[in-house]
Amino acid sequence: MWFKRMSLEDWFDTYQYETEYDIGESAVKFLTFDELDMDLGKLPLRYGFHKGRPDLRGYLAQQYPGLSSENIIVTSGASEANFAIIAAVANPGDHLIVEHPNYTSMYDVPRSLGCDVTLLHLTYEKQFKPDIDELKDLIRPDTKLVSLTHPNNPTGSMISEEELMEIIKIIEERDIYLLFDETYRELEFEKPLPAAASLSPKAISIASMSKCYGLPGIRIGWVATQNQFILDSVLAIREQISITNNAISEEIAESVLKRKKEFLQKSKHHVENNREIVSNWIDRQEDFEWIYPEAGVVSLPRIKQSVKVDPEKFFRLLVEKYRTFIIPGRCFEMDNRFFRLGFGGTPEEIQTGLENINKAMNELK
Ligand SMILES: Cc1ncc(COP(=O)(O)O)c(C=O)c1O
Repeated sequence: MWFKRMSLEDWFDTYQYETEYDIGESAVKFLTFDELDMDLGKLPLRYGFHKGRPDLRGYLAQQYPGLSSENIIVTSGASEANFAIIAAVANPGDHLIVEHPNYTSMYDVPRSLGCDVTLLHLTYEKQFKPDIDELKDLIRPDTKLVSLTHPNNPTGSMISEEELMEIIKIIEERDIYLLFDETYRELEFEKPLPAAASLSPKAISIASMSKCYGLPGIRIGWVATQNQFILDSVLAIREQISITNNAISEEIAESVLKRKKEFLQKSKHHVENNREIVSNWIDRQEDFEWIYPEAGVVSLPRIKQSVKVDPEKFFRLLVEKYRTFIIPGRCFEMDNRFFRLGFGGTPEEIQTGLENINKAMNELK
């Protein structure tokens, strides 16, 4: 077993605190503690409930028709949820299929645990949507789990409800787990997809307070599933990592979920406006192109093939001289002409960041 650093997180760690215009982030603008209007004076700072606070799990369960708080385990971010699920399901050598591009630990964790990972590639030519026939072809007799993320990070792509139902049918017929990362689910602008965990005992949903609520610093995520083996295993695994959740973070998560509608409406309004700013900018570009992100808060534009610049020089000039942060495609194991552009920041930050992209590109051409 060997864990190496994610080049995505390495890039974040090196530059994100150094920059002024963060248009690489994949969350809506972070909330501050003041905005929550909370008094934590009497909060007991004790170990918590091992599955997560029952009242918090109750709020989370409301998103999953047919499920109750007993079907939820609160974790330290969707990251810990992903780790625990993969560790529970897969032995070294087992075959897993993971959508790509994706948040990189979705494939880095199973690789590090010695699994045989096949990537299901989302391509620009197919609007970054999975090809279900290709998925069927990739399934082998020893495939244990299929891992998908929609709304997708970094592309913003969606699948339809019909496609999700077809995928559920496929995994049930072949007795394979489906891990569906729904971290951005609450930032769907059209009719939201049903939650995978409600559709099948072989499906596992994971999500988090990080992205749609702008609360990555509290490190609260969760697993939702009807599958008792997964619930028991996730509990056992995450107890070994962090025992219970952070008491302050659980209190914050619950307080925000009590006012969920208000927070989400704000996030959606903000993100939709920002997406229009980016879309209007892209329409005027000669050097860049994209697939319009249907949902979520990120997109994956690319530098056109006809533009003769070294993408790495471009990203570094942008971040080091223009203090503008985007994520190079190589951090997602993509051609480095691609880059992740997030639109969760303030409109002013995005506007200036986009202008800086043009300045850096013109300087290099
Ligand atoms: C799709 C997806 N899943 C999971 C995560 C992990 O997030 P967290 O651990 O903050 O919930 C991320 C973070 O970027 C993500 O984009």
